[in-house]
Amino acid sequence: MKADLLITGISQLVTAEGAGPKHGRAMRELKIVDQAAIAISAGVIVWTGRETDWKGEAELAVDAGGRAVVPGLIDPHTHAVWAGNRLADFEARTSGSTYEDILAAGGGIRSTIRATATASQDDLVALAKPRIDSLIASGATTIEIKSGYGFTPAAELAMLEAIQSLSVISPARIIPTLLIHIPPAVATERSSYMSQVCEELIPEVARRHLAAAVDIFVEKEAWQVAEAEELFDRAKQYGLAIKLHSDQFHCIGGLELGIHLGALSVDHLEASGPEQIVKIAASSTIATILPGVSLHLGIPSAPGRKLIDAGAAVAVGTDLNPGSSPLFSTSTALALSVRLNGLTVEEALVAGTVNAACALGIKDAGRLETECAADFLVLQSSDWRDLVYTLGTNPVQDVWIGGKKVT
Ligand code: NIG
Ligand code: FE
Repeated sequence: MKADLLITGISQLVTAEGAGPKHGRAMRELKIVDQAAIAISAGVIVWTGRETDWKGEAELAVDAGGRAVVPGLIDPHTHAVWAGNRLADFEARTSGSTYEDILAAGGGIRSTIRATATASQDDLVALAKPRIDSLIASGATTIEIKSGYGFTPAAELAMLEAIQSLSVISPARIIPTLLIHIPPAVATERSSYMSQVCEELIPEVARRHLAAAVDIFVEKEAWQVAEAEELFDRAKQYGLAIKLHSDQFHCIGGLELGIHLGALSVDHLEASGPEQIVKIAASSTIATILPGVSLHLGIPSAPGRKLIDAGAAVAVGTDLNPGSSPLFSTSTALALSVRLNGLTVEEALVAGTVNAACALGIKDAGRLETECAADFLVLQSSDWRDLVYTLGTNPVQDVWIGGKKVT
């Protein structure tokens, strides 16, 4: 066999095996190869195994120096494009206001929508680029980015165009999602806004391939189930996949709707109880949990342990956004899922790789196997568990995307 590149000197090569999603106990099954090598051609993995078993020829060999290698992380949930900041909210919350109070009073997400409206598309790209670079440095090689701070159809399209520009200038694979975040503050304007979304925004996004999925925030202070159902019907007609923000503060039926509609993922789940856990565990929808939100807002942690014990396929993301999760590290999100959601170290890696890929409908990333993209991380350590053990310093030494070293 001939390869462009051979990575040698890998103390441990650690990966889930076979396409996901991995449910329940299968989330603990990892393949670990000691003293390993990876052969790469045209940005794709063509061979992995023990270094001494490699019998081919490679144009170039790169020594990992006795360090552990894991798949590039997939961050399946971010809002990395925004303008302004939420420092006043943060301060108000330290004095007793809640996230929901602030939103109900016209602040929170609505204040970020106002700030984002004052920024040009170039500004939005310039603001988001270093945030994405930070996620990449922390180990993310595929990053989902949502719109949702635009509100009007024109502003949502501008956000998706900014995300498209970011995907051109960033080495990471960027997956764009149209987020229908919150309804108009005035109740009587809700149905006309929904018509705009259904008649103008969704068709245009689909026509221009500006997003792979539509996400809706289903919550007491946001969209109701019947409204989300109508919006999702339209998304489905246009061939877009479905995702939800649901059960963050209250269970009002968003998770059930997502499962019924075959959503790729239902995200948050901090308020999910036994009934919701059983339902999502029995479905093919990924349960995406976001520990940065629980840490930053001080709300309960999603029941990660119970979800996995019930047989769910769990993914973990940063939810990077200015209001509920200013978390700029994908590997730290995994580290937090072990502390806050009760995942084991093996489950955290699966949640941040193969299951997160499934939450985005991707099959060729998140695993170190032949025919997968050569997206991988060389850790600082010879022991892969340092990836989710380390807090406050970066456990990732080198990030490789498509067979190229990008950090
Ligand atoms: O995932 N909960 C809704 N949306 C985002 C937060 C957005 C914001 O606060 O700006 C979330 O938590
Ligand atoms: Fe979110």
